Amino acid sequence: MAAVSEQTPSVKEARTPLAIRAEKLTKEFRLTHQPYSSLKGLLLSFLPRRVEHIVALNAISFTVHKGETVAIIGQNGSGKSTLLGLIARVYRPTSGRLEVYGRVAPLLELGAGFHPDLTGLENIYFNGVILGLTRKQISERLEAIIRFAELENYIDAPVRTYSSGMLMRLGFAVAAHVDADILLVDEVLAVGDAHFQQKCYRKIREFQQEGRTILFVSHDMDAVRQIAPRALWLDKGILRADGDSDTVVTQYLASTG
Ligand SMILES: Nc1ncnc2c1ncn2[C@@H]1O[C@H](COP(=O)(O)OP(=O)(O)OP(=O)(O)O)[C@@H](O)[C@H]1O
Ligand SMILES: [Mg+2]
Repeated sequence: MAAVSEQTPSVKEARTPLAIRAEKLTKEFRLTHQPYSSLKGLLLSFLPRRVEHIVALNAISFTVHKGETVAIIGQNGSGKSTLLGLIARVYRPTSGRLEVYGRVAPLLELGAGFHPDLTGLENIYFNGVILGLTRKQISERLEAIIRFAELENYIDAPVRTYSSGMLMRLGFAVAAHVDADILLVDEVLAVGDAHFQQKCYRKIREFQQEGRTILFVSHDMDAVRQIAPRALWLDKGILRADGDSDTVVTQYLASTG
């Protein structure tokens, strides 16, 4: 039975508060192959449609405690973004159990959660409300968000006119200012210039010092080793390793040889 629960941790667990617990967490996607061209499509429409099941995450179990920074590594298509999507409640588990405690600020694909026709400013409100802030709280943080993103001159332009780096800056700035307990970062930092990347890493260190929980997906193994003491290695939806990041990165790199 799929379950997403939000209850507070039991008394027993209160000594080391839980942030995330996954038990045999499984996510399958169903892909229905639609015929392409119209003539071919017409002919093929008499055939049974082929439905493919993709097991993006296959019964993975792990626990993350409050204040931990955990990297999630693995090849393309191994299930990393799917896992963050489940934690952010973009998806529901197919089976297994997922418990998430606290407010989650997801920084998933570039521009995800932004409305392209709204301005940067409007998108700050739009996202802030979705992430659980009141309009008043957003107004109080507006200046800090815009300043952090360094988008003062572009904040009244629709975000469809933004470059990838500008989208990332706005996304990171919003996620950084919503008092999240759990920050999810899916690769996006890679599109930032060197100056902004450093700024994001400084902010991530601040989060760590404040005892927030961070899940960090990256293909940059140096960044993984520097930021995250612990790493999970996903391999075709299976949790291959969970341990200190130096060891897990070494195992992963050896396997890709
Ligand atoms: N919305 C979706 N519908 C159908 N299949 C999906 C969907 N999202 C992901 N998948 C499939 O699930 C598998 C895992 O994808 P996922 O995006 O989680 O990988 P990833 O580890 O984040 O890869 P990358 O390093 O390329 O970002 C892939 O086979 C992918 O095709
Ligand atoms: Mg991904």
